[in-house]
Amino acid sequence: MHEIDENPRETAVGRDVAGASEPTRLERLLFRLEAQHRCLNWAFGEIAGRSGPVLELGLGHGRTFDHMRRHLPGRDIFVFDREIDCFPDCTPDAEHLILGKLSDTLPEARYRFGGKAVLVNSDVGTYDEAINAEIAEVVSGALPALLAPGAIVLSDLPLTLSNAKAVPLPHAVRSERYFVYRSL
Ligand SMILES: C[S@@+](CC[C@H](N)C(=O)[O-])C[C@H]1O[C@@H](n2cnc3c(N)ncnc32)[C@H](O)[C@@H]1O
Repeated sequence: MHEIDENPRETAVGRDVAGASEPTRLERLLFRLEAQHRCLNWAFGEIAGRSGPVLELGLGHGRTFDHMRRHLPGRDIFVFDREIDCFPDCTPDAEHLILGKLSDTLPEARYRFGGKAVLVNSDVGTYDEAINAEIAEVVSGALPALLAPGAIVLSDLPLTLSNAKAVPLPHAVRSERYFVYRSL
């Protein structure tokens, strides 16, 4: 698994000579995880009382899946990844695990979840900007068909969703660390 440990847009900008004004790589990771945590916690409140499945794109080690299942008891959380590389106790059961490339599994998912998902957390970025652009395009293209009206989409990469708009970041979330959308 090659997850983002820094924001590639910041890498492109680079450090200034003194290096004092740019966050370190450790701080970038910290800020991203902090933003992810705050966005998820905010989203749990936003979907309270709304029925519908939750989609997790990118099982990874299962950390965000673990957080979501703890805070959304009883909710169906379907997890997409091309592989299982998680803590053993974070492995979704077979019914909730959708294995394969997102370019295959997400378009196919419309037959199962079309118009129903109330929350999507997309955490599939890497350190490679070209790969990120590709995967953001795949996610952007396939997600709209899966979203219920008013659904929340959280993403580690900026997305272009035909039926959703960026919404103001939840309280205390630093900009450009995580992205938040709501479907129309
Ligand atoms: C950053 S990790 C996810 C971290 C996870 N959310 C966590 O909290 O532990 C990204 C995951 O996305 C998956 N992934 C990336 N691109 C993918 C693709 N095109 N199809 C399927 N899975 C993909 C990788 O296999 C990896 O497990």
